Amino acid sequence: MTSVIIDCDPGHDDALAILLAAKHLDVLGITTVSGNESIDNVTSNALKIVEFGNLTDIPVIRGAEGPLFRDAVYASHVHGKSGMDGAEIPEPTTKLQEGHAVDFIIDTAMSTSDLVLLPMGPLTNIALALRKEPKLRDRIKLMSIMGGSSTSGNYTAAAEFNIYVDAEAADIVFRSEIPILMSGLNLTRQVLAKQEHIDEIREINNSTAQVIADLLTFYLGTSTRHSHDGAAMHDPCAVAAMIDPTMIEFEPMHVVVETTGTHTYGMTLCDVRPGSVKSKPANMEVAVTIDSDRFFKLLIDTLRMY
Ligand code: RIB
Ligand code: CA
Repeated sequence: MTSVIIDCDPGHDDALAILLAAKHLDVLGITTVSGNESIDNVTSNALKIVEFGNLTDIPVIRGAEGPLFRDAVYASHVHGKSGMDGAEIPEPTTKLQEGHAVDFIIDTAMSTSDLVLLPMGPLTNIALALRKEPKLRDRIKLMSIMGGSSTSGNYTAAAEFNIYVDAEAADIVFRSEIPILMSGLNLTRQVLAKQEHIDEIREINNSTAQVIADLLTFYLGTSTRHSHDGAAMHDPCAVAAMIDPTMIEFEPMHVVVETTGTHTYGMTLCDVRPGSVKSKPANMEVAVTIDSDRFFKLLIDTLRMY
């Protein structure tokens, strides 16, 4: 089973990603990063997820308080004030694992063969780990990232939220030469949870599925209020790429992160030109299509396992 660390900012879609990963991958730890909400809130939400998912054997480790250089921005308009509104979840009693997420990532990578990172929030922790321990470049097998877009953004017209929050960190990660699978908005907008999916999850007779049905109802509400046709399954796509990559089509591309643009800060510029003589060698595999039916079958079948 593939050993992974999930670096996240729960986040409704982060919650689904954690539950999906926990039943198919060897999750060595969940590290948190300021993103959808403050580090306090997303860390509390991560503890709530391991509790309502009966996953308290997976350690949760608190990470970066904010981006490398810029002030934190949050996505409360999507995920609510707590960062994971919509369900009655008790305050967690599970204790955090001592230490900082960056050191957990470094220590685990140095002691684990073929470690895969699943970053699904701003890339602050990952960038700090790469800078603190350059040997990680040869220790981390792969990063399956939810972030960026080969088309339009969401936080701005140009930039996807995870990259926008800390584009400097994303630039460090994208230039690390570690193999990357990038699940950007161009892909994740192809998997939209709708009421019929929530209804099917509601029919599952376990408490974890009931909490997810409540959370997805909230997330669908904020998504449709922002004129989306459904609740995008952003973060679970990065996990599905590790569980069953045959449901996703990837294309090798050279991708750079804009860190100085006035209007384009945080943009992931994907070189989609067919075989252009001017394009640089691909530095990652960009997900371009996904079989949505197979994705939702995997997700819902996994929720039945709780
Ligand atoms: O743009 C979508 C990403 O931003 C997802 O990871 C979501 O959880 C938020 O972090
Ligand atoms: Ca996230």
